Amino acid sequence: MTLPTTAAPKPAAPRVNPLQRIWLREIGMERLWMRPAPAAARPVVVPQVPVSKPVSAPEPAPVMAAAEAAPVHVAPSVAPSTAPAPAVPVAAAGSPPAVGAAVASTRANGRPGIPASILNRTGPPPRPAPKAAEDEAAEAPRIPVAEAVKNANLDELREQVVACTACGLCDGRRHAVFGQGATPTRWLVVGEAPGEQEDRQGHPFVGRSGQLLDAMLAAVGMSRDADVFITNVIKCRPPGNRNPKPEEIAACSPYLMRQIALLKPERILVLGRFAAQTLLGTDATIGSLRGRVHSLKTDEGAEIPVIVSYHPAYLLRSPSEKARAWQDLKLASRKA
Ligand code: URA
Repeated sequence: MTLPTTAAPKPAAPRVNPLQRIWLREIGMERLWMRPAPAAARPVVVPQVPVSKPVSAPEPAPVMAAAEAAPVHVAPSVAPSTAPAPAVPVAAAGSPPAVGAAVASTRANGRPGIPASILNRTGPPPRPAPKAAEDEAAEAPRIPVAEAVKNANLDELREQVVACTACGLCDGRRHAVFGQGATPTRWLVVGEAPGEQEDRQGHPFVGRSGQLLDAMLAAVGMSRDADVFITNVIKCRPPGNRNPKPEEIAACSPYLMRQIALLKPERILVLGRFAAQTLLGTDATIGSLRGRVHSLKTDEGAEIPVIVSYHPAYLLRSPSEKARAWQDLKLASRKA
């Protein structure tokens, strides 16, 4: 499949709302506004075929923070998602699997991830379970996540995530954060993991990073209600916002892969080093991953364009990088 090339669309007449203008003014590009364009594609697993070069636009001097520049996770080469799910966690310490890799979801204590009582439920998602029902669910036989998600629709998948006990992160969470946005969606936006506010509210990107993300999306004519679905690689908050562990990534990955399969986004916008490295199965720096279009191969053989950009939290710390993020958004907005 041939993915977007570097040929730039003709700039369209400026059409900005106040939110867009704030963002554009902030990055000094109010005048360079270009209208976004639609596209099409289908989804599911694996990494990475760089197909286009970085777009050209005024380049600020690189100001990479050490935390953003240095890879932390070493992702192995990607295993196809069609591989049979192993019965126990497969991730080795220090080597998180690419999200596309088939992963197991059995907890370290030997309890696989999702209570059968949740899996076998029909009808709408339930209200938060009273204590007795939670106990009952905890005692029910458990099904590995990779197996459980296979036939789930979006509502069922949400229910599975909310009830998930596939890794230790469930112990400290207030809410598992499934994701939020338009269904059907044009873009899937993938962040790292819920922070404190997201854990409290049960929705992704609701803190300061989320406000910046909303402004960035608005700058290219997108909104979380109408055009994008926002989620994270990890659905539960790691304590103290530490980096997720390989076994947590392995346990959670089937949820993201199923979300991609169900949502069939035209584009995936990956925010930050952790999400990019995990989704693309690489330990490359974000500086080397951004500025071109990658591809995520689906189980059906389709390929979804993947654009990597900086995490909004990083942009809040390093505002000079906002110009590059703007380039990334324009790249993501180009016609396939
Ligand atoms: N950071 C993320 O990566 N995801 C969120 O949902 C919030 C902050």
